[in-house]
Amino acid sequence: LADGPLKGRRVLVTSGPTHEPIDPVRYIANRSSGAQGTAIARALAALGADVTFVTGPADVPPPMGVTTVKVQTAQEMREAVHAAGSVEAAVFAAAVADWHVANAGNSKIKKDGSGLPQLTFAENPDILATVAQMDVGRPKLVVGFAAETDDVIANATAKRERKQCDWIVANDVSPETGIMGGSENAVTLITATGAESWPRMSKDAVARMLAQRIAEALT
Ligand code: C5P
Repeated sequence: LADGPLKGRRVLVTSGPTHEPIDPVRYIANRSSGAQGTAIARALAALGADVTFVTGPADVPPPMGVTTVKVQTAQEMREAVHAAGSVEAAVFAAAVADWHVANAGNSKIKKDGSGLPQLTFAENPDILATVAQMDVGRPKLVVGFAAETDDVIANATAKRERKQCDWIVANDVSPETGIMGGSENAVTLITATGAESWPRMSKDAVARMLAQRIAEALT
């Protein structure tokens, strides 16, 4: 482990999309690359933290120097987060699917003339909200993300209160920003005391600033 202000402190980061199966060969996913979550895990490790990195199927490789747990579905991500045990800070950067296919099959759906498949959906567990609302063993600092396309700050502020996390990192993922899948991010850090907009910078720089703030909050 690196030397630094978070030396030996246990933290958790979720990252990437989830894949929700339709049948053994098909799934529903989203456009998250995992780039921001991966950069955050790397930046926390660089400050000395003992990082558990729970990642869905991302486009970028996991960082060095962290304990990586690879998952596919939201349900698996929830189990991996709870299996990670107690941590001092948890950052939920994953783009978890809101729904899974409730009638996913064990065999491939056939195009056999019996009509179009009818998918039914069921809600996925909200991993961030569950952790933020733990009565026993809640991390001291719970950080969520809010990827929004409209009224970014208002929606993210409401989300912080609804989910009961300490901070929300809000970002505008409107297609014209190029943020989803890109290498830059423009975020607003929302805390109990207000909203602080950071200039547009690389996802690595956002990660280093956030890791620094986390270190200050924990020490
Ligand atoms: O409600 P929304 O999906 O916009 O909230 C985003 C935040 O909640 C992110 O931090 C994301 O990682 C987390 N989340 C989660 N489990 C879900 C849905 C979202 O941890 N099922």
